[in-house]
Amino acid sequence: MATSADVTPGGAMDEERVQQFLEQVISDSAAAVAGLCTSLGDRLGLYAAMAGAGPLTSAQLADRTGLAERYVREWLAAQVAGEYVDYAPGTDTYVLPDEHAAVLADQDAPTYAAGFFTLLQALYATEDALMTAFRTGEGVGWEEHGPALFAGTAKFFRPGYAAALVPEWLTALDGVVEKLERGALVADVGCGYGYSTTLMAQAFPRSRFRGFDFHRPSVEAAREIVAEQGLGDRVSFDVATAQDFPGEGFDLITFFDCLHDIGDPGGALHHAEEALADDGTCMLVEPNVSEHAEENTNPIGRAITASSVAVCLPSALAQHGPQALGNHAGEEAMREIADEAGLHHWRLAAETPVNRVYAVGR
Ligand SMILES: C[S@@+](CC[C@H](N)C(=O)[O-])C[C@H]1O[C@@H](n2cnc3c(N)ncnc32)[C@H](O)[C@@H]1O
Repeated sequence: MATSADVTPGGAMDEERVQQFLEQVISDSAAAVAGLCTSLGDRLGLYAAMAGAGPLTSAQLADRTGLAERYVREWLAAQVAGEYVDYAPGTDTYVLPDEHAAVLADQDAPTYAAGFFTLLQALYATEDALMTAFRTGEGVGWEEHGPALFAGTAKFFRPGYAAALVPEWLTALDGVVEKLERGALVADVGCGYGYSTTLMAQAFPRSRFRGFDFHRPSVEAAREIVAEQGLGDRVSFDVATAQDFPGEGFDLITFFDCLHDIGDPGGALHHAEEALADDGTCMLVEPNVSEHAEENTNPIGRAITASSVAVCLPSALAQHGPQALGNHAGEEAMREIADEAGLHHWRLAAETPVNRVYAVGR
C-alpha cells in the first residue's frame, strides 16, 4: 500500500526520523497535559505539603492539605508517572524528594520553577483570540488575558530576581549601588506586581522607589504586596504608561522584562531619558534568547519564543505603536532604539540563563 513516504518529493521518508519525532511530540503532549497537574500541585499546596514530610499516603496528604482524597490519589498517580514523586508500592506511600521540592515547593528558592505553570492557564485560554489575531494582524492586549497571566508572570520571574537582582545585576551597573546606599530615587517601569521594586527597596533602606504599570489590577496587587511588607513609606505604585510616567531626577530607571511588550519602546526610552537625573542609569532586563531562531533550540529558548507568540508580540501590537519587537528582537535592535532615544551608552552588564541585563545611559 502506498504511504505518504512513497510520494514525498525528494526521496524516501526517513522512517526512523519519523518515529523519533513522533516520540518527541508525544513527550511534548504529555508535558503539556501534565503541566495542569503541576499547576494544581503548586496552587493547591500539594507540593508544599509534601516538602520535607517524608513518605505519605494519599489519605495523609489529603488530610494535610484539606483536599479530597480521591482527587489527591489521582494526582499522585500522575506525579509518579512524570517522575516528580517517588512511590513505594509496599507501603503505598509517596515522597517528594528534597531536590524536587527545591524546584516545586519552595517559592523562595532560586530554583523554584512551578510559577511558570500558573501562566499556562492564561496562555491556553488565549488561543481563540490568537486565532483571530493571526488572521487580522491585530494585537491581544496584556489586559485582555486572564488574571493567571499577571499572577503567573510575577511568580515566574520572582525567584530569578530574588537570586540575581541585588547581588549581581545592580552591582554590575557602574556606581549605582553606591547611590542606592546613600539614598537614590528609582523608577521601575512596567513593574507588574512589583517584586523587582520591593526586592530593591528591601536591600536599600535609604532609597525611594516608584513602580509604574499601565495595568491597574497589577498595580493594585503591587500595592497590597508592599503594604504587607511594610515598605509603604518608601515604595509607591501608580498606574502610568511607560511613555508618560510622572516624576524626574531618577537615579535609576528599570525595565524588567517589559520593554519588548511596549508598543512604543522608543517613546518609553525617550521618556526615561528625560526623567533620568544628569548621571542616571537605565537598566533593561530582557529575555536571554537569540534573534536567530536556529540558536534557540533549547528549553529556555523554546519557552521564551513561544511566550512571544502568545503574549509579548500581541501585547505590543495591541498598543498600535511604531514597533512590535517580540521578545527576541536582539540586542542590536534594542540598542538602536535606545540610541535614537538619546541613550547612547549601551553595555551588556550581566547575564543569567533566563535574562540579559543592559546598562544604558546618555
Ligand atoms: C512580562 S510583564 C513584566 C512585569 C514585571 N516587570 C516583572 O518582571 O515581573 C510586562 C509588564 O509590562 C506592562 N506594560 C506593557 N506595556 C506597557 C506600557 N506601554 N506602559 C506601562 N506598562 C506596560 C504590563 O502591564 C506588564 O505588567
